[in-house]
Amino acid sequence: MKTLIKNASVVFPEEVLQTSVLLEGSKIVDIDVASQIDADEVIDATGLHLLPGVIDDQVHFREPGLTHKEDLASASRACAKGGVTTFLEMPNTIPATTTQERLEEKLALASRTSMVNYGFYIGATPENLSELVAANRTPGIKIFLGSSTGDLLVDQQDALERIFAETTLPITAHCEDEATIRKNAQQFGPPRNVADHSKIRDVAAAVIATRRALDLAHRHRHRFHVLHVSTAAEVELLAIHRHLITAEVCPHHLFFNTEDYERLGTRVQMNPSIKTASDNEGLWQALEEGTIQVIATDHAPHTREEKDKPYPSSPSGLPAVENSLALMLDQVHRGRITIEQVVHWMCDAPARVWDMVDKGRIAVGYDADLILVDLERSEEIRDETQWAKCGWTPWHGETLTGWCVRTWVMGHTVFNQGIVDQTPKGEEVRFDHMRGGYWATESGH
Ligand code: DOR
Repeated sequence: MKTLIKNASVVFPEEVLQTSVLLEGSKIVDIDVASQIDADEVIDATGLHLLPGVIDDQVHFREPGLTHKEDLASASRACAKGGVTTFLEMPNTIPATTTQERLEEKLALASRTSMVNYGFYIGATPENLSELVAANRTPGIKIFLGSSTGDLLVDQQDALERIFAETTLPITAHCEDEATIRKNAQQFGPPRNVADHSKIRDVAAAVIATRRALDLAHRHRHRFHVLHVSTAAEVELLAIHRHLITAEVCPHHLFFNTEDYERLGTRVQMNPSIKTASDNEGLWQALEEGTIQVIATDHAPHTREEKDKPYPSSPSGLPAVENSLALMLDQVHRGRITIEQVVHWMCDAPARVWDMVDKGRIAVGYDADLILVDLERSEEIRDETQWAKCGWTPWHGETLTGWCVRTWVMGHTVFNQGIVDQTPKGEEVRFDHMRGGYWATESGH
């Protein structure tokens, strides 16, 4: 099957060109195609932009074990709607993904249910070093340096030293310092309201853990990716280690701050906690300067009933895969950022950080994971229209301009103003860790 997409503004890493793109099977086979070419389907994309599909390298899709919150089918449908064609999922399911066997169970499940492409991290525990050393078919190792949803936690120094010394897969971590969180919680006594979340999981908790992880990565010369940076203070640490490590930020840490607790309550209760307006600014600046390279969602749904419990019984986490791209395209519409920057942070950079084969850009030979976006389309985000199983969003009531209107996964249209068919089209992502990650591929593969 050959598909010709013509007259789109095609977003390449460095420029936007009005041209045509030809897909055959699961691949992009030609760009700037002769107009008389034979194709089974010709799409006139006049007025629309063609982007590589978004790669979200941090999501919690809750299967197995927590499928009342979300599952791979519901989450991957929400991805297709939001323009996310590939996700990397975290290990804090039940059971946790801490062995090769569990990893392969998840991969098998996703092959039967996922609408979009998938990969799964292996989770570190103080005892599973041999699994981490031998793991394959995974982007890397996830360490919780501070506890969050689930019981994964490694905060003993000797266990951390061994993981960084003896494994070769890239490592990524949730950086909030467990000891600081516990000390703060004790000092404040019983929390009175959700705003206390940002005092317990404070700036120091984030900075201490990030500094500790960067020190481990630096001493062991180990590739390391800092998940969901939430403070301007951590950005200063990242700047020191530029060219060794990579980092990411989530939309909620760019758009929300402690002033939003009054309006949104536990809907913005997250780990790491949201911080101040000046942290929002520091994170934007770090993206623009390249100190943070990736935007990911940390999509972490909980039911409304769970979120409606009084703090601290309410769990931390919010859903975001179906709105993350639109949130950034809306910033393009407002003139704050460019569409090339969005493609860099959400497509090209995550593909390079995790050594994904043939993903992240529009180029001949790359996978036909593509999205058409309409930069003029305005839509209000509403709880009732969310596809994530939990059926709520912290962005309820906000109108954004710039939305995905069509999504291809491996050459199949999976979303075209609605799900096209329910057959799972996602494929396992291939990782070639010999590439050496983001900094080794700065000028392209
Ligand atoms: O708020 C959070 N919730 N942060 C995490 O890192 C985990 C997540 C979850 O799984 O609920």
